[in-house]
Amino acid sequence: MDEQNASNQQDHDQSTSKLICTANHGFAPYAQEELRRRFGSVKSTMLIPGEVFVVTLESTIEAAVDSLKDNPLIFLRHIFPVLMELPGNDPDEALNQAAACLLKRDDLEGRRISVQVRKAEGSSWTESPGLLRDRLQTELSPLEADFTVTEPEWVISLFAAKNAWYFGVSDPSSNLSDWNGGAIRFQREEGQISRAKFKLLEAERQFEIPFSSFHNALDIGAAPGGWTSFLLERGLKVTAVDPAKMHESLLDHPNLRIVNKNASDVKFKEAQFDLLVCDMSWSPKLMARLVTDLLYALAPGGTAVVTVKLLTKKPMALVHEIMDIFEDSRMQIQGAKQLFHNRDEITLYMIKY
Ligand SMILES: C[S@@+](CC[C@H](N)C(=O)[O-])C[C@H]1O[C@@H](n2cnc3c(N)ncnc32)[C@H](O)[C@@H]1O
Repeated sequence: MDEQNASNQQDHDQSTSKLICTANHGFAPYAQEELRRRFGSVKSTMLIPGEVFVVTLESTIEAAVDSLKDNPLIFLRHIFPVLMELPGNDPDEALNQAAACLLKRDDLEGRRISVQVRKAEGSSWTESPGLLRDRLQTELSPLEADFTVTEPEWVISLFAAKNAWYFGVSDPSSNLSDWNGGAIRFQREEGQISRAKFKLLEAERQFEIPFSSFHNALDIGAAPGGWTSFLLERGLKVTAVDPAKMHESLLDHPNLRIVNKNASDVKFKEAQFDLLVCDMSWSPKLMARLVTDLLYALAPGGTAVVTVKLLTKKPMALVHEIMDIFEDSRMQIQGAKQLFHNRDEITLYMIKY
């Protein structure tokens, strides 16, 4: 494909937009369904089964991105708008052509740029994505950019699919996440109690929850204590409810009260807490009932963060059923999202009114 054809791709019908979309593994069909409900007719092709797909939406890029930023979908973790789609199986040709286009952009010169590269099985790039990123960065060296992963001003995205190469240039917020594919990574700390802590760290970023501004938290289904340790680190007093044992490193913490009971057997004072979190690996409907029975202990204006297990073949219906239960209990849903660190579950962020 020559340069003229490549730029024709960019100038394609302005009233449609093409996006590379990523969901947690196995959940892409639900993200596709959400897109269909939001945008109506959607043309979509899977690039990595169950995980990454390319869609064409009947909407301008700006309108599509604004809509997805303002009202995020539950199962859509990451997007990048496609600037160039280069069919074919010749990496040199695709990279040269993309570089020729990108080097013409003054707005990229000398800027902080994150180059994010992924590839599908069967792509014509046979080496690692890391080497592909190095190669693209070398091609782009005349830009004299600061290639970085932290706080980039621009993200240059490349997805090498089976018979096509997709390139994008976007400001990080347009991608819904500034991590490659939305796969946000946290450093595992020494002595970290559980990986579950990453879920709350990610929720904090995703929903911009000001955890340090709360005082008294109730953690339901707290053991072994990853979430509890996170809340203690943020300076909160925590009441941890779980019949299972909390990690020994937490036992003597002065701000922690441990209640070794089933959550259906505990009693608290009215409006005692300003934060309630619940991460029980349990039937979602029973979890919702159990949590709503304890909402008297959450002060009006208080925040709740709960994970909802998706133990069903119809997660969309289930999620809406659970959200309805909470909404009927004076909880306003602020955010509902399958986070990168959620496996077969989603996270709800709610405020009590
Ligand atoms: C996935 S673990 C929670 C992990 C925890 N968030 C962390 O960060 O370490 C789920 C916990 O829920 C607890 N649990 C399940 N049903 C419960 C109930 N009815 N009442 C209290 N805890 C319950 C289990 O004992 C288990 O420890």
